Amino acid sequence: MAGRESMQVGVRAQDGFPFSAECFGLHEMLQLSPRQSHHRLLLLFKVVSDTEAMETLLEDAFVLFGIFTIFIFFLKVAKCLRYFVLTKWFGVPNSFFSSLGEWAVITGGTDGIGKAYAFEFAKRGLNIVLISRTKEKLIKVADEIEQATGRKVKAVQVNFTKRDIYEHIEENLKGLEIGVLVNNVGMLQTPNPCRFLEMTDIDETIDDMIAVNMVSVAKMTQLVLPKMKQRSSPQSEKAKANSANKQLHL
Ligand SMILES: NC(=O)c1ccc[n+]([C@@H]2O[C@H](COP(=O)([O-])OP(=O)(O)OC[C@H]3O[C@@H](n4cnc5c(N)ncnc54)[C@H](OP(=O)(O)O)[C@@H]3O)[C@@H](O)[C@H]2O)c1
Repeated sequence: MAGRESMQVGVRAQDGFPFSAECFGLHEMLQLSPRQSHHRLLLLFKVVSDTEAMETLLEDAFVLFGIFTIFIFFLKVAKCLRYFVLTKWFGVPNSFFSSLGEWAVITGGTDGIGKAYAFEFAKRGLNIVLISRTKEKLIKVADEIEQATGRKVKAVQVNFTKRDIYEHIEENLKGLEIGVLVNNVGMLQTPNPCRFLEMTDIDETIDDMIAVNMVSVAKMTQLVLPKMKQRSSPQSEKAKANSANKQLHL
C-alpha cells in the first residue's frame, strides 16, 4: 500500500505538478486516519524536497528573508541617526520630558549633581520632588527652583541611611504622575577617600553605604516603576488617545 502511494506521488511530482493539491494528496488525505496521513506526509515531503522547484523556492525565501533583514537593519540605523543628528543640533524637545509625566523625582536633589538635575528638569516643564536629608537646604532649593522656573516643588525630608523611610516616601509620592526618577543620592565612606581598613566605625559605615548607595536605588525604583509601566501599557495609551479625541470633539 505504502509503495503504491509513493510511486503514485513520485510519478505525479515528475509530471511537473509538484505543488498541486493532487500531488500532496490533500483531498484523499482528509479522509485518511491520522496514522495514515502522517505516513503519507512523510513520503510526500521526501519526494517534494528532492525536486528542483523546492530548492528554488527555498532559495527565493532565503533571499527575501535576507533583503527583509537588511531593510529592517537600515531602518533602525536611520532612526538612530535621525535621533542623534536632531538632538545634537536642536536638543531633546521639552515636549519629550513632559510626555513622560508631570513630575521628576530626584534623590539627593539639594546639592551638586542632583540639584543641577532638579533645575534642568524644572526648566523643561516638569514639577520636582526633592528628597534629601537637611530640611533647611530642602526649603532653600525648593524656593530657588520655584522662583526661577515657576514649577511646583515638593520636598521630602529623609535620611537614606535608614531603612524604614520608604513608606513615608511612598505616602508623599501618592497621586503624582512621575515621569522621571533620578537615583542620585550617594555617599563615600569618608569625605576624604581613605583605605577600606582605615575607616572609622567600619561596621556602621558599611551598612550606611549599602543603604544609601544600593538599597535606595532598588527601593525607589520599586516605588516608582509600577505606575510608569502601567501608564505605558497599550490599554493606557489607548485610553489616553480616546480622551484626547473626546477633548477634540468638545
Ligand atoms: N561629584 C562627583 O565628582 C561624583 C563622581 C562620581 C559619582 N558621584 C555620585 O553622584 C552623586 C551626587 O554626587 P554629588 O557630588 O552631587 O553629591 P553632593 O554634592 O554631596 O550632594 C549629595 C546630595 O545627596 C544628599 N544626601 C547625601 N546623603 C544623604 C542621605 N544619607 N540621605 C538623604 N540625602 C542625602 C545631600 O543632601 P544633604 O546635603 O541634605 O545631606 C545632597 O543633596 C552621588 O551618588 C555620588 O556618589 C559624584
